[in-house]
Amino acid sequence: NTVEKVTFSWQTPSNIALVKYWGKTDPQLPKNASISFTLNNCHTKTSIEFTKTEKNSTVEFELFFEGKKKDDFKPKIAKFFDRIKEYCPYIFEYKMVINSENSFPHSSGIASSASGMSAIAMCLLSLEKELNPTITEDYFNQKASFLARLGSGSASRSIEGPLIVWGEHPEIEGSSDLYGVQFPYKVHPIFENYQDAILLVDKGEKQVSSTVGHNLMHNHPYAENRFKQANDNLGKLSTILQNGDIKEFINLIESEALTLHAMMLTSNPYFILMKPNTLEIINKIWEYRAETNSNICFTLDAGANVHVLYPNNEKESVNEFIKNHLALYCQKNQYICDNAGFGAQKQ
Ligand code: PMV
Repeated sequence: NTVEKVTFSWQTPSNIALVKYWGKTDPQLPKNASISFTLNNCHTKTSIEFTKTEKNSTVEFELFFEGKKKDDFKPKIAKFFDRIKEYCPYIFEYKMVINSENSFPHSSGIASSASGMSAIAMCLLSLEKELNPTITEDYFNQKASFLARLGSGSASRSIEGPLIVWGEHPEIEGSSDLYGVQFPYKVHPIFENYQDAILLVDKGEKQVSSTVGHNLMHNHPYAENRFKQANDNLGKLSTILQNGDIKEFINLIESEALTLHAMMLTSNPYFILMKPNTLEIINKIWEYRAETNSNICFTLDAGANVHVLYPNNEKESVNEFIKNHLALYCQKNQYICDNAGFGAQKQ
């Protein structure tokens, strides 16, 4: 098929890891398997207008973010195209105009690379399908995840939902280091429509990027044990997700979050991404759990923000608790109520 001019638009979500990916080798292959909840409200919408040109020697594109030309984001996207070009040579034959916007506040400390990279990957796959209509939906999603992974590792988990595994693992059928797959077993109803309130503790630029953080795992004294522990935890979590043992879930999730940050505390050079209010919130969550028997728990990303996780049946009570007791630790009292979602949506 020849296609002269076409535009595709996709909305893809962010995700929050339950078992964390921290440490990788080239080309963006994880040192351990990870699993995440796909989010619903935190997403990126991206459209790409493709116009056929003479075959170029470089990838040609323009970039607009929230309506404005954004040349400072260009190097990151150019690097992404460079990494994926061997898998989609057709990008040399089109000029691309990329328009992108996030549903969450810009520089809120919510990683936009997962949703941003996966949205571009979906638009590229739409073009590929236009050029070759015989490709199947499975191939489409798998390749989109594969491409997104080359942009940002965790982006491989932002194509589908609500639970995605990335990284080869003996207990997860079909899992791969190359792309994310749906958690393949039946999940207990307690984990359906799981809630995630993202408390915006610190919206500033991170002092240490995740790229630098991953690299510091190379000479890290605890690295090998950590990779083994993460894989063991994924095996345990697989059982928990099926049998619904929520107390075990809480234990494992919070330990994963603190272990991720423990890796940062013990790397060389060491660094701290948590802020005083991160710890205030964690303590309040523990107090609330002790006083009420709630199944609320927390996880952390590579930053100061706290993700508060809770089952759907506690939505009302926990939302009240957050509003009255946790919001005051957030910058400008800001937080985002989200829940596990189902992945990319064509616009
Ligand atoms: O995808 P990256 O390279 O930004 O790394 C993400 C790492 C964590 O968010 C800290 C953990 C994870 O598994 O998402």
